[in-house]
Amino acid sequence: MTLTARRIGGAPVILRALRSKDRREWETLRAENIEWLRPWEATSPERTASRLAFRQLVRQFDREAADGRLQPFVIETGGRLVGQMHLFGIAWGSFRSASAGYWVAKSVAGQGIMPLALAAACDHAFIALGLHRVEVNIRPENSASLRVVEKLGFRDEGMRLRYLHIAGEWRDHRSFALTTEDLGHSSLVERWNHS
Ligand SMILES: CC(C)(COP(=O)(O)OP(=O)(O)OC[C@H]1O[C@@H](n2cnc3c(N)ncnc32)[C@H](O)[C@@H]1OP(=O)(O)O)[C@@H](O)C(=O)NCCC(=O)NCCS
Repeated sequence: MTLTARRIGGAPVILRALRSKDRREWETLRAENIEWLRPWEATSPERTASRLAFRQLVRQFDREAADGRLQPFVIETGGRLVGQMHLFGIAWGSFRSASAGYWVAKSVAGQGIMPLALAAACDHAFIALGLHRVEVNIRPENSASLRVVEKLGFRDEGMRLRYLHIAGEWRDHRSFALTTEDLGHSSLVERWNHS
């Protein structure tokens, strides 16, 4: 699955699957951004947990995607990998909900890439997948990410205490959501590009 979101005044933002041939570019991007991502990335509460090797990671993404629980995307713009966007914890039945998790490289931060990528992921969730709700959970200290959901009009649903294990501790998060009713029949990408 590949999603392309046109950007006014910039290269399109493309969301696509991570491929085996991305290995070198992916590992370089991750290595360059370790410190940038450390305060915001989930960690395992089990101290002995090891990081997945690239090939295992691709396989795990493919398996969870095939089970309908994950939509894993890398973000590409101007012919380069610049980040990641996941719709994870996808639930069906009466809930029809997903959480979004995301990051871009420090070198491209502040260019409006993530609002567009998140808008494209939400359109995909609501229109192509038929989900009803997308939520984003953000540490209260993460002012850049709080701006992303604010720009797209996510509803603030309050604080979740000790919600996620990040940088070695259980961290509080603010929860934000959109449901299909918030958009009616409009596309969030269109709305964002014309705001
Ligand atoms: C949060 C994040 C995804 C935002 O993506 P982005 O593409 O930079 O989003 P935007 O361009 O809309 O910028 C959002 C805010 O970041 C801040 N910002 C701008 N330039 C910046 C820079 N060079 N470096 C850091 N932050 C910057 C500004 O507050 C901006 O808001 P503004 O547009 O009102 O000024 C990105 O900062 C990131 O990947 N951070 C590290 C990982 C992370 O926090 N992931 C989210 C976990 S919930």
